[in-house]
Amino acid sequence: MTDGERDRLVAEMTLEEKLGLVRGHADPAGRATGALPGVERLGVPPLRLVDGPMGVRDGRATAFPATLALGASWDPALARRVGAALGAEARAKGHHVVLGPGLNVIRVPTCGRNFEYPSEDPRLTAAVAAASVAGIRSAGAAATAKHFVANNQERQRDGVSVVVDERTLRELYLPGFRAAVAAGAEAVMTAYNRVRGRWMSEHTELVEGVLREEWGFDGCVVSDWWGTHDTRAAVEGGLDLEMPGVSPLELYAPRSHLLRALVGLRPSERAGIDPPVLWRAYDALVGDEGQPDLYPAAYFGDRLRRAVASGAVAEAAVDRKVERVLGLYDALGLLDGAGKPSGGSAGESPTVDADAHHDLAREAAVRGTVLLDNDGLLPLSGAESLAVVGPNADAAKVGGGGSSAVTPARTVSPLAALRERASGVTFERGVARVAEPSLFDPPWAGTVRRLRGATTDADPDAAVAAAADADVAVVVVQDGATEGEDRDSLALPGDQDALVAAVAAANDRTVVVCRSSGPVRMPWLDDVAAVVATWYPGQADGAALADVLYGADPGGRLPVTFGRRFADYPVAGDRRYPGVDGHVHYDEGVFVGYRGFDRVGVDPLFPFGHGRSYAAFACGDASATPADDGWRLDVPVANDADRAGREVVQVYVSPPDGPVERPARTLGGFASVELAAGERERVSVSVPRRAFARYDSREGWTVDPGEYDLLVARSSRDVRERMSVTAE
Ligand code: GLC
Repeated sequence: MTDGERDRLVAEMTLEEKLGLVRGHADPAGRATGALPGVERLGVPPLRLVDGPMGVRDGRATAFPATLALGASWDPALARRVGAALGAEARAKGHHVVLGPGLNVIRVPTCGRNFEYPSEDPRLTAAVAAASVAGIRSAGAAATAKHFVANNQERQRDGVSVVVDERTLRELYLPGFRAAVAAGAEAVMTAYNRVRGRWMSEHTELVEGVLREEWGFDGCVVSDWWGTHDTRAAVEGGLDLEMPGVSPLELYAPRSHLLRALVGLRPSERAGIDPPVLWRAYDALVGDEGQPDLYPAAYFGDRLRRAVASGAVAEAAVDRKVERVLGLYDALGLLDGAGKPSGGSAGESPTVDADAHHDLAREAAVRGTVLLDNDGLLPLSGAESLAVVGPNADAAKVGGGGSSAVTPARTVSPLAALRERASGVTFERGVARVAEPSLFDPPWAGTVRRLRGATTDADPDAAVAAAADADVAVVVVQDGATEGEDRDSLALPGDQDALVAAVAAANDRTVVVCRSSGPVRMPWLDDVAAVVATWYPGQADGAALADVLYGADPGGRLPVTFGRRFADYPVAGDRRYPGVDGHVHYDEGVFVGYRGFDRVGVDPLFPFGHGRSYAAFACGDASATPADDGWRLDVPVANDADRAGREVVQVYVSPPDGPVERPARTLGGFASVELAAGERERVSVSVPRRAFARYDSREGWTVDPGEYDLLVARSSRDVRERMSVTAE
């Protein structure tokens, strides 16, 4: 549909029909995360939006590995394939818009949603996010880049104001969104938080100024659920679509007539008075510091209707929002029948191959696995007897708590998969199960889970005895992160550290499998033979773990720095995290993650980009050639082992001294390659000109002239070759 045709379609609409397109509703079928009724009279069909980044949150669906695992794969092509499968499943279930990818930079190592994001580095984040967007779109679904912007903690996410300077926003927090928009994301979801005092759902400077005018984004800006605060400010701040615009009771219990009647008791909303007592009580009872005020936002409901009637908001302003929402429809091909009584189609729903998607989830989980340490015990031969230990080892770690949760089509636990591969397996839980938190739990749920968990078959002595009797002990540990709150420390929850130490003392051939949402402390590291990080591996968890333990070279590299303690991270200190008086000060500037560790010279436990291999790689003399945009490095890589393996060639840029302090090195480019035994290959890595630039608040992007070092590396701390190039 041309812009002109869209304009004419809008011109035919009544105000009521327009308002129905700028404020989301509950899905009458109770399956989508949010919906728009459309305008049947004009052939505009309903539009359905559905979570999430790791799988479709509607019925049973493929639970893909955490987005952090895709970051750990350092393979955008893999991220694209997963995005395509995710998009296909959303369409097959009749949904149109995927509420993903999540792409906030991992700034705080304990942020409750780190598993939903790719990395601490903006370039790796951007590459994975753009690929995910392209994948989702290739399946005929629309992609939503979220959460715009600087939503880097869950603690008080719906209230804090982020105090961040322009350079830091530009160099660190905006690049992922710019890449997602460039990749064609049809929607951008505004974050719950404020930036420099303004709510993101009404942030004229960043939404109208940067996203639309500077980047040319003409897609749809959608709020996070209940993440709106003022009608006029949201209209002027660039918001197009308020979600969900309904009460939580309506959203989560759409078919409960009693609850709907209760919810219906909201005459006060029509009168514009503050939330009635019922809603205040509901918020007091269920609300949580990390949860937005659940009172039905509806700033684009009655309030907008009244604002247009009073002239406070011009109807033309509403028209512009409707046009952008229709742009979303159009991008999905849903307006072909619009304007005619025949009505538009809800779009074809392709069928998906669940087995193929399970295999893809397994492949992605393998590729996202990082071999952190290995004294040679791995890979296993298959002849060893195993003691499988761990509170949740008999269950797949499908995902984390919150809106990204997926009900998997099937699961493979570590225990089940290892039983199929090993010659003899015993299982001991060892300690109480780690709770699988959920965002939608009432506050008392944790207590109930702890009481239930206390009656487990957990016996640490039996675990030690089983380990002593087996050739190899495999201890599966995990954290329990969720949207809506941050982890309270880097430590593994419960008594898992003590369990690992006791098992390692009983068997010096102990492998630890760490299923976490990000960095964790490892006090037992020196006492174990091997450690693999599998993040939240998704439904194929155990199958992928067995593949890796028995020889599949994982190929993962750390997308986040594993520090020895929280205090080593650049965000340590209340002012920086969780903030004081409702303000979180990004005083560390661009020195987040490895950049911060380099700045102060602190050695991490495992550096950004780290990952061992079962193969043995060597790189030869690299050459740098000027390219259209920046430089192309050609790096000879050899696999000197007698087995195939995967290498991630990383190139960091180290700038000359200049007018402002800059990180000692920043990721400029990378390439992930698979090499057969004895194979040699010249690996090309593109380092764009932007990788040499810094952002100057007056001059904009600036490349200081001088000699730049290009570091060919296996991690941010393992440089294999250095060369210089001159930038003008
Ligand atoms: C949640 C999340 C967002 C999700 C939305 C719908 O609060 O912040 O990522 O897509 O609401 O569930």
